[in-house]
Amino acid sequence: MVALATALALGACTSPDAERRSDQPERAKATGEADELTVVDLDNVPDVTEEKKETEENGVTASLSYPKVPNADPLAKRLDEITDRERDDFLGAVPKAESIKIGWNLSVAGDDVMAVRLTQDEKDDEGERTAWATYWYDTATGTTAYSTELLAGQQELETLDGLVKKALKENDGDKVDTSHLYPILRSYDSMGFNPDGDLVVEFDEGQVAPVKSGRVSAVVAKADVEPLLSDFGRKAQTAAVVVTPDYRIEEEPAAPKDGSKAGVPGVFATRDDDVDCSDPESKCIALTFDDGPGERTPELLDTLAKYDAKATFFLTGGPVREHAATVRREYAEGHELANHTVHHPDLTRQAEVRIRAELSTVNDLVRRETGFDLELMRPPYGATDDKVAKIAKEQGLAEIIWSVDTNDWKDRDSSVVAKRAVKGAKPGSIILMHDIHGTTIDAVPSILKQLDEKGYRMVTVSQLLGDTEPGESYFNGHPEEKKDDTDGKDDGTSASSDEKSDKKDDKKDDKD
Ligand code: NI
Repeated sequence: MVALATALALGACTSPDAERRSDQPERAKATGEADELTVVDLDNVPDVTEEKKETEENGVTASLSYPKVPNADPLAKRLDEITDRERDDFLGAVPKAESIKIGWNLSVAGDDVMAVRLTQDEKDDEGERTAWATYWYDTATGTTAYSTELLAGQQELETLDGLVKKALKENDGDKVDTSHLYPILRSYDSMGFNPDGDLVVEFDEGQVAPVKSGRVSAVVAKADVEPLLSDFGRKAQTAAVVVTPDYRIEEEPAAPKDGSKAGVPGVFATRDDDVDCSDPESKCIALTFDDGPGERTPELLDTLAKYDAKATFFLTGGPVREHAATVRREYAEGHELANHTVHHPDLTRQAEVRIRAELSTVNDLVRRETGFDLELMRPPYGATDDKVAKIAKEQGLAEIIWSVDTNDWKDRDSSVVAKRAVKGAKPGSIILMHDIHGTTIDAVPSILKQLDEKGYRMVTVSQLLGDTEPGESYFNGHPEEKKDDTDGKDDGTSASSDEKSDKKDDKKDDKD
């Protein structure tokens, strides 16, 4: 009786949705495995074609493909960019790359929603590895979306992260290690629905389990995930669970929009617009840590979290490869990631081609781990010149020097390091430390406690400086001295005289 009454009530409803449904024939339920994203039979998408790109560069072959459907140009454009980017990042970040192949299938093609799932096979001297990423598209608005945009916001992604960890532990507890999984874009880049409308989250080989364990997925029940979905996510879920025969897009969207990363769940801003560091009252300070991550950087992150302090990490290549999980955690906890070259050379003594590679490789490595595009670099030893500045500019990187040098690499004494950091601190300071030294890690609790008591706000460099110009050098963000700094910036190499002498020592002794 109750069911009948409900059905009658629905029948009487004259909402546009109900009308549309009554016009259309009943659609068949999508088929597929419970732990897989739905797959669209291409017979139902008669106009789909495949774009193919084959390249060979330094002996590395790339074979990239993606689908093209009439009247979905913004999607094709986005997939073209994404596949190029993935190839370039692979070539840049993996030292002994052999080949990369990107193939595709459609996970959803119905109503106003399309989903393209890319399968990326990478081969290097250590073996083969497969990764997946699923991109979404709203055919009505011309908007492309990351998988995390199926969710309403960052809070929802964090809740999902908890549910996924629980599900993985229950099902694959032996082989899966989720302790290094964070709610960031790059870790949640392949999500969709199974035929029942449950959310399927899939992880690349090697991401949460050894590569040999293959693909790992978590299924979050429809009822659990529904409260977490965005409006688009609900639309996507509805379209995913049915088969749409003879799928066509009637016309191009009127005003195609570029997918922006701002506000995307799993993407973190390097600054909070509510804080104005150009106001001396804000008492902003940027703590910066170079040459890492190190073994004890997770401890440092715990300490920063305790004081709600943000920092900037100038990363070098080897440590990023060795401690990739720490890099993801730094990003997930709202710290700023920045570039400190692969091998830490004095860039002013390198050929342009080497400078380019030293910087771009770290950009590529960090993007592959986090999805974040670096905006800042610090030349090793603070050594820069017009040539370095030109290349930094090409790569969209501002050069960040420092105003307070703790000399923590030289004096491995945590009380000395703490004293120098606190004594040198004033609003707008950029404080130089290295998170590869245990004595520095030990100094930070005292530094944070004292700066906190003095009313300082520990912020990222981008928060401190506001908009920075790629290729320009910045030494501090002192609110009252901003004009003077601009005057002194021109010769590019100038730090204050005592900073210069520090740099000389740094060159001589810093073994990193
Ligand atoms: Ni360094």
